Amino acid sequence: MKKSASVFVAGHTGLVGSAILRKLHSTGHTNIITRTHSELDLVDQRQVRSFFNEHRPEYVFLAAARVGGILENQRYPAEFLYQNLMIASNVIHQSYVSGVRKLLYLGSSCIYPRLSEQPMREEFLLTGELEPTNEPYAISKIAGIKLCDSYRRQYGCDFVSAMPSNIYGPHDNFDYESSHVLAALIRKVHQAVTLGSPSVRVWGTGTPRREFLHSDDLAEALLLLMEVYSDLGPINIGSGTDLSIKDLAEAIGRVIGFDGEYEFDISKPDGAPRKLLDISRIRELGWHPRISLEDGIKSTYSWFLNHSSEL
Ligand SMILES: NC(=O)c1ccc[n+]([C@@H]2O[C@H](COP(=O)([O-])OP(=O)(O)OC[C@H]3O[C@@H](n4cnc5c(N)ncnc54)[C@H](OP(=O)(O)O)[C@@H]3O)[C@@H](O)[C@H]2O)c1
Repeated sequence: MKKSASVFVAGHTGLVGSAILRKLHSTGHTNIITRTHSELDLVDQRQVRSFFNEHRPEYVFLAAARVGGILENQRYPAEFLYQNLMIASNVIHQSYVSGVRKLLYLGSSCIYPRLSEQPMREEFLLTGELEPTNEPYAISKIAGIKLCDSYRRQYGCDFVSAMPSNIYGPHDNFDYESSHVLAALIRKVHQAVTLGSPSVRVWGTGTPRREFLHSDDLAEALLLLMEVYSDLGPINIGSGTDLSIKDLAEAIGRVIGFDGEYEFDISKPDGAPRKLLDISRIRELGWHPRISLEDGIKSTYSWFLNHSSEL
């Protein structure tokens, strides 16, 4: 990717897209194209077609999606399935039609079977049943991978798919209803400290194990993939280590300075028991995560404090 090449970052206001944007700026890219959701609705085929006809980007990072935690996935399964299928279909097809040199599609670790062997290797895709709490979302993400693979097979398009673990960092969603676990816990623990509450309520049993990667580490991996990687199927990106939700809550409590109790609300779903990615393939390409979970929580909490009035 030449520094002057035109690069479209779809979803640049989000957690992942904003990290890609920071990385492109910091590495000297000068021709970056962005559109907010209200300027360009990627679910709308006509809008996507005219955008690609007009701008003809050379490279595309597809980081736009309808994203949310367990509650949102369960409340809005039709929207998660429909919008993500449409975004992937429209952007991938128009990238083919307008001759995009390379496209990088963002999926998620929920594409792997619920009771998958751990750590999860790329070849475990479609080898078992999906986690029911986010199955429609996972199906849309699998369709996106298959679109990239099929356009590569039939038309020779250089379209690749990256599967990150749980991502966190600046521009995360801290909303109580729709956030992912790490951002939700930062907000809850912060509120407990601010109000002097003796306890924090955590969804589920606290026993599921999850892997967390900072969005800046992810962006570094994604730019590397754009430069050096061209293959079928997904490639995993994660930190390579996991911890229980209880341990995560305690780690956040140490950073924020909360010394109360955690109450586990077992009436709420846990999701998959464990989700740890095998990251051997991306490590072989020379990438490794740099930001420790403790440092990442500290910097994300400080971002949250600086932006809490806007959230
Ligand atoms: N967050 C994670 O832990 C995680 C983990 C693994 C993979 N991923 C993947 O990474 C990608 C990005 O996730 P994220 O966490 O960055 O999500 P996010 O913070 O919610 O950002 C999503 C972005 O997409 C935009 N968008 C949504 N619908 C759109 C539409 N119809 N037209 C145009 N733009 C639209 C959003 O704009 P508005 O906010 O204005 O709607 C926002 O800029 C997703 O494919 C997701 O599967 C995320």
